[in-house]
Amino acid sequence: MISVNGKINIFFGLGAGILVASKVVVAAPASQAKQDVPTQSIMQQIIGPLSRVLPLSFDDLSFESPKNRPAISKDLKQLMDSANHLEDHAKRKDKAFDYIAKSLRNDARHAFHRFERGDFEESRFAIHNMTENCIACHESLPETHKVPPATGFFSALKIDRLHPLEKAHFYVVSRQFDDALKTYEDYFTSGSVPLTSIGLLGSFTDYLKIATNAKGDLDRPKKLIEKILARPDLPGHVKSQMTNWLNAIIQLESEKALTKSDVAAAQKVLSQGREIMEFPRDRNGTVHYVTAAAILNRYVHDHPEANAEVAEAYYLLGITESLLAHSYWISREEFDFETAIRLAPSASFAEKAYTLLEESYTVGFSGSSGTHIPPDVKALLAELRKLIDQAKSQQKT
Ligand code: HEC
Repeated sequence: MISVNGKINIFFGLGAGILVASKVVVAAPASQAKQDVPTQSIMQQIIGPLSRVLPLSFDDLSFESPKNRPAISKDLKQLMDSANHLEDHAKRKDKAFDYIAKSLRNDARHAFHRFERGDFEESRFAIHNMTENCIACHESLPETHKVPPATGFFSALKIDRLHPLEKAHFYVVSRQFDDALKTYEDYFTSGSVPLTSIGLLGSFTDYLKIATNAKGDLDRPKKLIEKILARPDLPGHVKSQMTNWLNAIIQLESEKALTKSDVAAAQKVLSQGREIMEFPRDRNGTVHYVTAAAILNRYVHDHPEANAEVAEAYYLLGITESLLAHSYWISREEFDFETAIRLAPSASFAEKAYTLLEESYTVGFSGSSGTHIPPDVKALLAELRKLIDQAKSQQKT
């Protein structure tokens, strides 16, 4: 389920990019995660047309010019076909992978059909949202090998004109995780980020997600935080936030938390996180929540089967998302809770997942004129309620 519910993310307004990634493997670091060659080859089919369309989409005139129309239409069609292909392939994978693949396919369809109808603005919007799906998937799975630098990509992107956060965005889209981390690190220590807000930035969470999920590395964030802490002009509350996170990293590193891949380990990390939080959305728990999510993401990816433990992993992932999510486009939290209920409606956490799901939708669809939950969401909630009630009554008999 995709909902536009007012969550904020970074957006890119400038520049244009050409993504070129060749099949040559530059360096293969010792990595535990297995390469997924069929997925890689679909990715190559996606990146080709996207490389040509994305730069044009940044410029109204080029995008709408009759001269470019046949080429754009052909590329958008190809993108849609490749996204359909990914969706078919995703049916054999875990539910989270399948969900994001579906979301990409929806956006690719919208981009194409709206372009064909002459709704250029809407088509561009869908193209830009498409890259949110690349990020959602890439930032939740381990790097399996170094993808060669996307040659030509950043020269066409006119890298100097891009905001560092946009740069990092495209590095993750093209799976250049080291470059993405370095870009974030330079940005956070550049002096151009107001020190008072550094700990509040969603981009700081994005940085932690790449470090933990893609790289399995808490050491880089540790060094970054030490660097920030060394600044003499650091306001007291930022110092205390950073010190909390540093201590969290030291604890998690000593427990080798990121080498774990089971639900019980994630539970433990989450409850440690909760212990240091004073109120529900207290960011002191961020490092623990990101780490728990990294363990759980790997767990669900390695367990495409549907059983109660996998269901619990989704429930816990939903909890981590409720603290960490800030993408306005892909709402993982609601997907996670819904999946937990569908996989194990009789489990004790199903009731809690339902409450949190209902709350999330209520918040998402509330505005100054009250709460307006759309009929399809109401029907979904009713269906899930029924699943839980039926499971409960079956248990009694
Ligand atoms: C549903 C999940 C998912 C989505 C959505 C997704 N990717 Fe990927 N992508 C992957 C995975 C997993 C890999 C790594 C496979 C491996 O390393 O074996 C990958 C690898 C890549 C690679 C490197 C391929 C290689 O040869 O190693 C590129 C480039 C890429 N993706 C681009 C994109 C772009 C651009 C988008 C968005 C339009 C996108 N991906 C969307 C899952 C996804």
